[in-house]
Amino acid sequence: MSISDSQKAIVQSTFAQVTDADQLASRFYERLFEIDASTAPMFHGDMSEQRKKLIQTLAVVVNGLDNLEGIVPAIQSLGKRHVQYGVTVQHWDSVGSALLWTLGDTFGPAFTDEVKQAWASAYNLVAQTAISAAYETPSQN
Ligand code: HEM
Repeated sequence: MSISDSQKAIVQSTFAQVTDADQLASRFYERLFEIDASTAPMFHGDMSEQRKKLIQTLAVVVNGLDNLEGIVPAIQSLGKRHVQYGVTVQHWDSVGSALLWTLGDTFGPAFTDEVKQAWASAYNLVAQTAISAAYETPSQN
Protein backbone atom coordinates (compact mmCIF):
# COMPACT_ATOMS: atom_id res chain seq x y z
CA MET A 1 0.00 0.00 0.00
CA SER A 2 2.04 2.94 -1.16
CA ILE A 3 1.85 6.05 -3.24
CA SER A 4 4.67 7.59 -5.27
CA ASP A 5 5.54 11.29 -5.29
CA SER A 6 4.33 11.58 -8.87
CA GLN A 7 1.01 9.96 -7.94
CA LYS A 8 0.63 12.46 -5.08
CA ALA A 9 1.23 15.29 -7.54
CA ILE A 10 -1.35 13.86 -9.96
CA VAL A 11 -3.99 13.60 -7.20
CA GLN A 12 -3.29 17.16 -6.07
CA SER A 13 -3.41 18.62 -9.55
CA THR A 14 -6.64 16.82 -10.50
CA PHE A 15 -8.29 17.87 -7.24
CA ALA A 16 -7.27 21.49 -7.93
CA GLN A 17 -9.08 21.26 -11.27
CA VAL A 18 -12.43 20.47 -9.68
CA THR A 19 -14.50 23.55 -10.50
CA ASP A 20 -17.72 22.56 -8.74
CA ALA A 21 -16.89 20.60 -5.60
CA ASP A 22 -20.50 20.53 -4.41
CA GLN A 23 -21.59 18.93 -7.65
CA LEU A 24 -18.79 16.38 -7.38
CA ALA A 25 -19.96 15.52 -3.87
CA SER A 26 -23.56 15.34 -5.04
CA ARG A 27 -22.71 12.92 -7.81
CA PHE A 28 -20.57 10.94 -5.40
CA TYR A 29 -23.42 10.36 -2.92
CA GLU A 30 -25.85 9.60 -5.74
CA ARG A 31 -23.49 6.96 -7.08
CA LEU A 32 -22.72 5.59 -3.61
CA PHE A 33 -26.40 5.09 -2.78
CA GLU A 34 -26.89 3.46 -6.18
CA ILE A 35 -24.07 0.92 -5.88
CA ASP A 36 -24.50 0.27 -2.14
CA ALA A 37 -28.02 0.97 -0.91
CA SER A 38 -27.02 -0.02 2.63
CA THR A 39 -25.09 3.27 2.98
CA ALA A 40 -28.03 5.66 2.45
CA PRO A 41 -29.89 5.09 5.75
CA MET A 42 -26.72 5.88 7.72
CA PHE A 43 -26.91 9.54 6.69
CA HIS A 44 -29.36 11.42 8.88
CA GLY A 45 -28.43 15.05 8.63
CA ASP A 46 -28.60 17.77 6.03
CA MET A 47 -26.87 16.39 2.92
CA SER A 48 -25.72 19.82 1.82
CA GLU A 49 -23.76 20.11 5.10
CA GLN A 50 -22.50 16.56 4.63
CA ARG A 51 -21.23 17.40 1.12
CA LYS A 52 -19.33 20.39 2.55
CA LYS A 53 -17.77 18.29 5.30
CA LEU A 54 -16.73 15.61 2.83
CA ILE A 55 -15.10 18.10 0.46
CA GLN A 56 -13.34 19.95 3.30
CA THR A 57 -11.90 16.73 4.65
CA LEU A 58 -10.92 15.50 1.21
CA ALA A 59 -9.10 18.79 0.65
CA VAL A 60 -7.18 18.39 3.92
CA VAL A 61 -6.17 14.84 2.99
CA VAL A 62 -5.21 15.70 -0.59
CA ASN A 63 -3.12 18.67 0.56
CA GLY A 64 -1.63 16.55 3.31
CA LEU A 65 -0.33 13.85 0.97
CA ASP A 66 3.04 15.62 0.98
CA ASN A 67 3.32 15.08 4.70
CA LEU A 68 1.64 11.75 5.35
CA GLU A 69 2.75 11.44 8.97
CA GLY A 70 1.02 14.75 9.59
CA ILE A 71 -2.40 13.49 8.49
CA VAL A 72 -2.30 9.91 9.79
CA PRO A 73 -3.70 10.80 13.26
CA ALA A 74 -6.65 12.66 11.67
CA ILE A 75 -7.37 9.71 9.36
CA GLN A 76 -7.19 7.29 12.28
CA SER A 77 -9.71 9.27 14.29
CA LEU A 78 -11.93 9.71 11.21
CA GLY A 79 -11.89 5.91 10.85
CA LYS A 80 -12.80 5.40 14.50
CA ARG A 81 -15.63 7.94 14.36
CA HIS A 82 -17.02 6.16 11.32
CA VAL A 83 -17.47 2.94 13.29
CA GLN A 84 -20.03 4.85 15.39
CA TYR A 85 -21.92 5.76 12.21
CA GLY A 86 -22.31 2.05 11.40
CA VAL A 87 -19.64 2.00 8.68
CA THR A 88 -18.11 -1.43 7.93
CA VAL A 89 -14.92 -2.43 6.12
CA GLN A 90 -17.04 -3.35 3.09
CA HIS A 91 -18.45 0.19 3.03
CA TRP A 92 -14.94 1.57 2.58
CA ASP A 93 -14.76 -0.40 -0.70
CA SER A 94 -18.09 1.00 -1.86
CA VAL A 95 -16.97 4.54 -1.11
CA GLY A 96 -13.71 3.98 -3.02
CA SER A 97 -15.60 2.70 -6.06
CA ALA A 98 -18.09 5.55 -5.94
CA LEU A 99 -15.30 8.12 -5.60
CA LEU A 100 -13.30 6.76 -8.55
CA TRP A 101 -16.42 6.50 -10.67
CA THR A 102 -17.42 10.08 -9.87
CA LEU A 103 -13.97 11.43 -10.70
CA GLY A 104 -14.06 9.51 -13.99
CA ASP A 105 -17.51 10.86 -14.76
CA THR A 106 -16.42 14.40 -13.92
CA PHE A 107 -13.12 14.46 -15.79
CA GLY A 108 -14.03 12.27 -18.74
CA PRO A 109 -11.08 11.36 -21.00
CA ALA A 110 -8.72 13.39 -18.80
CA PHE A 111 -9.22 10.70 -16.15
CA THR A 112 -6.64 8.42 -17.75
CA ASP A 113 -5.54 5.09 -16.32
CA GLU A 114 -2.54 6.82 -14.79
CA VAL A 115 -4.75 9.37 -13.03
CA LYS A 116 -7.14 6.65 -11.92
CA GLN A 117 -4.26 4.60 -10.50
CA ALA A 118 -2.97 7.63 -8.61
CA TRP A 119 -6.39 8.22 -7.01
CA ALA A 120 -6.82 4.52 -6.26
CA SER A 121 -3.44 4.49 -4.47
CA ALA A 122 -4.30 7.58 -2.45
CA TYR A 123 -7.74 6.30 -1.50
CA ASN A 124 -6.42 2.85 -0.57
CA LEU A 125 -3.79 4.39 1.64
CA VAL A 126 -6.37 6.50 3.46
CA ALA A 127 -8.89 3.64 3.70
CA GLN A 128 -6.27 1.21 4.98
CA THR A 129 -5.09 3.69 7.60
CA ALA A 130 -8.66 4.32 8.76
CA ILE A 131 -9.60 0.62 8.72
CA SER A 132 -6.50 -0.46 10.66
CA ALA A 133 -7.20 2.11 13.34
CA ALA A 134 -10.90 1.34 13.51
CA TYR A 135 -11.27 -2.41 13.18
CA GLU A 136 -7.95 -4.14 13.74
CA THR A 137 -6.98 -5.22 17.22
CA PRO A 138 -3.61 -3.72 18.11
CA SER A 139 -0.85 -6.34 18.21
CA GLN A 140 0.31 -7.55 21.62
CA ASN A 141 3.99 -6.94 21.04
C1 HEM B 1 -11.91 9.25 2.70
C2 HEM B 1 -13.05 8.79 3.19
C3 HEM B 1 -14.06 9.59 3.97
C4 HEM B 1 -14.07 10.91 4.30
C5 HEM B 1 -13.07 12.00 3.93
C6 HEM B 1 -15.27 11.13 5.09
C7 HEM B 1 -15.66 12.34 5.66
C8 HEM B 1 -16.67 12.49 6.57
C9 HEM B 1 -16.87 13.63 7.42
C10 HEM B 1 -15.97 14.87 7.45
C11 HEM B 1 -17.98 13.41 8.20
C12 HEM B 1 -18.55 14.34 9.29
C13 HEM B 1 -18.42 13.74 10.66
C14 HEM B 1 -17.00 13.43 11.10
O1 HEM B 1 -16.05 14.15 10.75
O2 HEM B 1 -16.84 12.41 11.80
C15 HEM B 1 -18.49 12.10 7.81
C16 HEM B 1 -19.62 11.51 8.33
C17 HEM B 1 -20.14 10.33 7.85
N1 HEM B 1 -19.59 9.51 6.91
FE1 HEM B 1 -17.80 9.73 6.05
N2 HEM B 1 -15.96 9.96 5.19
C18 HEM B 1 -15.25 9.01 4.53
C19 HEM B 1 -15.59 7.68 4.42
C20 HEM B 1 -16.84 7.19 4.69
C21 HEM B 1 -17.28 5.84 4.41
C22 HEM B 1 -16.42 4.73 3.84
C23 HEM B 1 -18.59 5.77 4.75
C24 HEM B 1 -19.45 4.56 4.57
C25 HEM B 1 -20.63 4.62 4.01
C26 HEM B 1 -18.96 7.07 5.31
C27 HEM B 1 -20.20 7.40 5.86
C28 HEM B 1 -20.42 8.45 6.72
C29 HEM B 1 -21.59 8.57 7.57
C30 HEM B 1 -22.75 7.58 7.65
C31 HEM B 1 -21.44 9.76 8.29
C32 HEM B 1 -22.41 10.34 9.35
C33 HEM B 1 -23.59 10.94 8.68
C34 HEM B 1 -24.65 11.41 9.65
O3 HEM B 1 -24.41 11.44 10.86
O4 HEM B 1 -25.72 11.77 9.15
N3 HEM B 1 -17.88 7.89 5.24
N4 HEM B 1 -17.68 11.57 6.83
